Amino acid sequence: MVSTHNKRVSIVLLMFLGTWAFQAVSRVLDEETIVQKHRLWMIQYGRAYVNEAEEGRRFKIFKDNLEYIENFNTLGNQTYELSLNIFADLNNEEFAASHTGYKDLPIAGTSKKSTVFRYENLTDFPPSVDWIQAGAVTNVQNQGDCNCCWAFSAVAAVEAIIQIKTGNLISLSEQQLVDCVDSNDGCSGGWMDNAFHYIVQNQGITSDANYPYKATDKKCDSKKAAVSTVTIHGYEDVPANNEAALLKAVSKQPVSVCLEGASKDFQFYSRGIFTGKCGTSLNHAVTVVGYGTSEDGTKYWLAKNSWGINWGEKGYMRILREIDAPQGLCGIAKKASYPIA
Ligand SMILES: *[C@@H]1O[C@H](CO)[C@@H](O)[C@H](O)[C@H]1NC(C)=O
Ligand SMILES: *[C@@H]1O[C@H](CO)[C@@H](O)[C@H](O)[C@H]1NC(C)=O
Repeated sequence: MVSTHNKRVSIVLLMFLGTWAFQAVSRVLDEETIVQKHRLWMIQYGRAYVNEAEEGRRFKIFKDNLEYIENFNTLGNQTYELSLNIFADLNNEEFAASHTGYKDLPIAGTSKKSTVFRYENLTDFPPSVDWIQAGAVTNVQNQGDCNCCWAFSAVAAVEAIIQIKTGNLISLSEQQLVDCVDSNDGCSGGWMDNAFHYIVQNQGITSDANYPYKATDKKCDSKKAAVSTVTIHGYEDVPANNEAALLKAVSKQPVSVCLEGASKDFQFYSRGIFTGKCGTSLNHAVTVVGYGTSEDGTKYWLAKNSWGINWGEKGYMRILREIDAPQGLCGIAKKASYPIA
């Protein structure tokens, strides 16, 4: 007993000394630790800076972001977590200005837009839907430094409805939309409805293999754009500000949505169910590819983003569903639409 007791005292003493030593050292090493973290991060993401001044500036931003992320994660009681990711050396203004791209533009034309909501009278839908598992979703892409989230959102919705109708999952061309949809602004922003309108007018969209993504504005390659791989017949809007209507549509096919998705918490989201912070000023677009309820009963939307697989849950985000406001969290139910094949 005595010896066990002594051992326990020694262990406690060691733990105390260890903690004290760790704190003392970590306080001294703090700046150095962050420098190290930054270096490792630069290697991990292949980042190099043009000169020392730029490196200093980026280090400062990295440090601010690191502090924000660690503070957030240690608050506890969060439904989601943040992490240092590929965007760690961008401040939030830079990030929002270069990686989003929903723009409220005039509609290209209403002739291809259906005025009915075909899923209006659906009464029976499953408690959860996952179009990834169903095989209707291609790999997560990375839009890079081009504000064309709208092209990725539209393409994912078209790829899915084609797979649902035909069984063939084909990766389609975002670059064609960036270059050729005149009613949108390419890498300066756009709206999915105008992309759907273009695809109907053009009698199709070509494959990603034929017209690959370049993450920059190019001249429309009309020869490639004329090689139609698949086509759609029209598109419909989900009744606005109605999460119940959005659910009906998503139970039948992936849906393009706009949201306010450029905050720091979006920038560094890594896992869990996103519950804010966000307003409803739409600036980004993603594709809702499912919905469900977590083990603790939290309802969520499953969204495919276009920020690569190192962001979020392998490129996806779960977002709180059925909130106490008609627009939905981050305005996800404000402006949703889907193609008809
Ligand atoms: C944690 O969240 C629960 C439920 O939202 C809340 O009741 C509780 O006060 C929170 N605790 C802290 C420490 O924030
Ligand atoms: C839904 O049901 C109503 C009432 O029967 C009908 O008028 C309407 O056309 C239906 N909507 C669709 C999209 O079928």
